[in-house]
Amino acid sequence: MHLSHVGVSKLCFLVSLALCALLLLLIPTLQAPPRQGGDRPPPPPRPKPQPRHANKHAPGGSSVQLGPDGGGGDGGGAPHPNKTGQRVTLETTVGRAAAAGRLDPLPLHQAPGALPPPQRKFSSSGSRSSRDPLELRDVFIAVKTTKKYHKTRLELLSQTWVSRAKEQTFIFTDGEDKELKKRTGLNLINTNCSAAHTRQALCCKMSVEYDKFIESQKKWFCHVDDDNYVILPSLLRLLSSYSHVQDVYLGRPSLDHPIEAAERVKSDGSVSVKFWFATGGAGFCISRGLALKMSPWASLGNFITTAEKIRLPDDCTIGYIIEALLEVSMTHTHLFHSHLENLTRLPSNSVLDQVTLSYGGFENRRNVVSVGGVFSLAQDPSRFKSIHCLLYPETEWCPKRTRP
Ligand SMILES: *[C@@H]1O[C@H](CO)[C@@H](O)[C@H](O)[C@H]1NC(C)=O
Ligand SMILES: *[C@@H]1O[C@H](CO)[C@@H](O)[C@H](O)[C@H]1NC(C)=O
Ligand SMILES: *[C@@H]1O[C@H](CO)[C@@H](O)[C@H](O)[C@H]1NC(C)=O
Repeated sequence: MHLSHVGVSKLCFLVSLALCALLLLLIPTLQAPPRQGGDRPPPPPRPKPQPRHANKHAPGGSSVQLGPDGGGGDGGGAPHPNKTGQRVTLETTVGRAAAAGRLDPLPLHQAPGALPPPQRKFSSSGSRSSRDPLELRDVFIAVKTTKKYHKTRLELLSQTWVSRAKEQTFIFTDGEDKELKKRTGLNLINTNCSAAHTRQALCCKMSVEYDKFIESQKKWFCHVDDDNYVILPSLLRLLSSYSHVQDVYLGRPSLDHPIEAAERVKSDGSVSVKFWFATGGAGFCISRGLALKMSPWASLGNFITTAEKIRLPDDCTIGYIIEALLEVSMTHTHLFHSHLENLTRLPSNSVLDQVTLSYGGFENRRNVVSVGGVFSLAQDPSRFKSIHCLLYPETEWCPKRTRP
């Protein structure tokens, strides 16, 4: 009895000793990422209590240095510093170029050849991996519109591509329209944002789009405008070649170089960052994995705050969050198209392989893709009905095919 008691105490002592040793061994691994020797320069000071960075790697080492000033205070309403001429001109050039409709210098004839490598892999059918095939219901499609265009543009969309993706397409607008909702069955979401075409109003809508996507649990977020036709089979094919749990930002760059803006989120605006962004007018897609990482700067109104800090439009702000803050590179694709391009130059035999199309533009109503043979330009000025009938000839309002 007495002896066994001593034995038990001894055992207890040994066990606790072993536990202590184990704990001591574990401590270094439990601590924050270990310093990799002294060969790396010390990290630049973090100016603000920042939301946690989800993606810390940065193997390529972005050359952007944060400001040396640890002060914080981004001076919300501070006037734009004139010293930093480049930034000033940049913001204005983007605006002017957009107004002039010449934001897209990319050669269009490259469009069909510009498929990203993973896509080619999938063009040969049957090479699917063991992954679950992506289905349309895995994709959240946000269409941005405004009340003014409910009658014209939304009517056309609901007759054409949206009719094939009704469940997962959400129309973000700025006014109630019970009548349209009832008649077309569209998922209209009143964002309660202003109807003005201002940066604030557009960012307000993007912010609601983001929150609704996160809520939806879907795998992919795709944003388009109300003058886009989405070729759903192409969209699925494109997204299928990427993984939604990885960081994927797919879109068409609107410039042939990255834009530069003052860094006012990580820093006080005294330094600038360069980043690519996908032009919103052509549509873009973001994987769920990446969207979740954007949350500190995009969710629940944070998107508006971020956009206000860097003073850039909604699509630029998306690019800024992804490329500049999360250090994830945009995947450039020429399969997305906006009305800022010369759409007539898209080869007609490649039209149906694209992911998004558009029509019109600031000064050119005749800027449409060339598809022939279904409806005349007078019957179908946007060409969306013709495209729709080529994709889905069984649609009731499409001309019956007379095959010899
Ligand atoms: C910068 O300041 C100068 C005068 O100080 C003024 O003439 C010029 O228009 C300003 N430039 C910008 C882009 O604000
Ligand atoms: C817009 O306002 C209405 C009425 O207050 C509300 O029911 C709706 O949820 C709001 N929409 C959003 C996206 O917050
Ligand atoms: C678009 O391209 C076509 C064919 O290259 C050309 O004839 C037309 O003038 C161009 N339109 C504009 C607005 O640049």
